[in-house]
Amino acid sequence: MQELRINAERLWGSLMELARIGATPKGGVKRLTLTEEDRQARDLFARWAREAGLSVSVDPIGNVFARRAGTDPAAAPVAMGSHLDSQPSGGKFDGAYGVMAGLEVIRSLNDAGVRTRAPLEVVSWTNEEGSRFTPVMMGSGVFAGVFTLEHVRSQKDVDGVAVGDALRSIGYAGSGASHEVGAYLEAHIEQGPVLEAEGKTIGVVQGALGQRWYDVTVTGQDAHAGPTPMELRQDALLGASRLVQEVNRIARGFPDYARGTVGFMQVKPNSRNVIPGEVRTTIDFRNAKAPTLEAMCAELERAARGIEAECRVRIELRENTYFKPCEFDAGMVARVRDAAAGLGYGHRDIVSGAGHDAVYVARVAPTAMIFVPCEGGISHNEIESATPADLAAGCNVLLRAALHTAGGETP
Ligand code: GLV
Ligand code: MN
Ligand code: MN
Repeated sequence: MQELRINAERLWGSLMELARIGATPKGGVKRLTLTEEDRQARDLFARWAREAGLSVSVDPIGNVFARRAGTDPAAAPVAMGSHLDSQPSGGKFDGAYGVMAGLEVIRSLNDAGVRTRAPLEVVSWTNEEGSRFTPVMMGSGVFAGVFTLEHVRSQKDVDGVAVGDALRSIGYAGSGASHEVGAYLEAHIEQGPVLEAEGKTIGVVQGALGQRWYDVTVTGQDAHAGPTPMELRQDALLGASRLVQEVNRIARGFPDYARGTVGFMQVKPNSRNVIPGEVRTTIDFRNAKAPTLEAMCAELERAARGIEAECRVRIELRENTYFKPCEFDAGMVARVRDAAAGLGYGHRDIVSGAGHDAVYVARVAPTAMIFVPCEGGISHNEIESATPADLAAGCNVLLRAALHTAGGETP
């Protein structure tokens, strides 16, 4: 069993076929959660899972579980997975890799006739990205009891469509019962530059940064661009642009992997000769330490009050998402490290700057993640790229760690 390896060509072929759904001209994917493209990706995954002999079920928030029975029917499944939704200008590997890697592990075990004591499960979690709907990591959050189903089903996108309606319209408001998971492993591209820069193949993920997201409304007053003197304006966009700079300043000024991003903005009325009266925007703050994240948020509040006075606007900061920095299970992390070492892959410990479904699943099951390099560390971009060899290496680590956890039995 030490010799068992996944089929690298099949893994790559599945990723490329999946990437045709929602393909963009620059080589990425646009597969926003709960859209027609998301439905097609889910359908393809479910078909492949059934063809691999798995039983597929869908829970009420649309998480798709594909299970391979174990020899001990009483054992809780060892789950592997990630997400099939993408950013609006996303890449082929963010999320898709973790789901396809889980499926490839199953296919390889089928080929080799290897059974496991505990069942294995491949999971596609709903709305990991948090782009169309918040909260981010929605499906795994509901699964782990972080959010109620009622709460997330009522969340709306910018066009006023609710999660519950979108789920029904793509046919993925399932009725599968919630179940226990014995352990969880998620393979993912790093989405940062560290592994590539150090020439390492595997990132042994220790945990992930905590995050606080805000919805922000800056309110000023619409007025004519000509007659209104500069000092009498209540320019909401000026206030918002000052806020963008403050977010950047704060993130640069704090330790512990501080990050600060403004990635969304709507300007009203968005007319070139009207002083903007309202701006809706967002803030994404991250940090490896909960108290430092708190300090960043306190500094943001102070900065906002200063901008209000300076720009004669009102700034409302509404918390949209919060999760604290997460540490994965030491035993599962060691299993990933042992698997990488046993397979002879260069590896290093690493902290995830991105959020992942593993962050929430870690609250209900021993969890770890496996990172592989991506070109230039670029992700959330259509040009996101990873090599077939690195993707195969991460999948081999997944196979070994999953077999170790689930108890592999050769025929
Ligand atoms: C998820 O993609 C995140 O923003 O970390
Ligand atoms: Mn992802
Ligand atoms: Mn992502």
